[in-house]
Amino acid sequence: FSSISDPLWESYVRSIPQAQYYRNVLMQGYFVPPSILEGLENFEIRPHDIFIITYPKSGTTWTEEIISLIYNGGDTKKVQKKLLIFRVHHLEVGRPIGHLRFLRKLRSPRLMATHLPLDLIPKQLREAQCKVIYVMRNPKDNVVSYYHHHQISTSLGNYTGSWDDFLTLFLKGHLVYGSWFDHVLSYWKFHQQHPEKVLFISYEELKMDLERMIERIANFLDRPLHPEAIKNIAHHCSFDQMKNNNMVNREQLPVTDFFNMSHTKFMRKGIIGDWKNYFTPEQNETFEKVCKEKMAGSGLHLVFEP
Ligand code: A3P
Repeated sequence: FSSISDPLWESYVRSIPQAQYYRNVLMQGYFVPPSILEGLENFEIRPHDIFIITYPKSGTTWTEEIISLIYNGGDTKKVQKKLLIFRVHHLEVGRPIGHLRFLRKLRSPRLMATHLPLDLIPKQLREAQCKVIYVMRNPKDNVVSYYHHHQISTSLGNYTGSWDDFLTLFLKGHLVYGSWFDHVLSYWKFHQQHPEKVLFISYEELKMDLERMIERIANFLDRPLHPEAIKNIAHHCSFDQMKNNNMVNREQLPVTDFFNMSHTKFMRKGIIGDWKNYFTPEQNETFEKVCKEKMAGSGLHLVFEP
């Protein structure tokens, strides 16, 4: 990868603090130390672990809050006592938020999340030894959200490049956490191989019918909920509620320099279709052409509109 001679890619890599390649995937060393990546392969998975897996900006935080509530019986007051990052633990994130040593000491059921591509997750997780919820998002909205996330994130070098360059990097898979296409397609296959263990859902489905999706997730986790609890969770997890909720909106963190949210918030817009405000007709044409090529034969159909 490092031998790719592409000035755009080289300048992007230079902009990422402590950039490192881990088995050909570009990672941010600021957040994800090599000591964790090296220990991941043999990290022990327990049957009652729950993993949310996503490409960054697909609705991770949203799904995390939903499962945290499902595991707390829909008790919205109880979950407000702790930051979400200390209720759903990110596998690859280091201090001061976590570390594998800390995850090993947690009591079951452990609620965890990761953005890592399939090849990099622990061996026992690749064998689907616990339940997994994979969330994908329309890649057009995903790339817009990731672009803004790069601008606000210190760990991603507070990106100052152009939107057009960012879109090119996305289509080539030259970003932190690698290619969106490889990510989604490998986990789609993973879901097909283990349908009882791996639920495959989308941001758009959550957005279009949150109550139905909460019910579906709860049933998948063998934690069925009363209709009243589903309603409460859906209200608590609406964008407007989560945007103003300091336990989930990243405005209150144990360290102050993760984000610079002076222009854009972590909870930015929370809508379907914001890509239309960014893509030119030419960019859209190129994007659809690449999507068509990459997704051909996968059986996974992208829903661009509700
Ligand atoms: P936008 O940047 O498009 O607004 P992740 O948690 O994977 O980093 O994803 C963040 C994206 O999910 C952001 O998208 C954020 O606004 C959106 N999001 C978070 N909570 C949401 C909610 N309750 N409803 C809708 N979108 C939400």
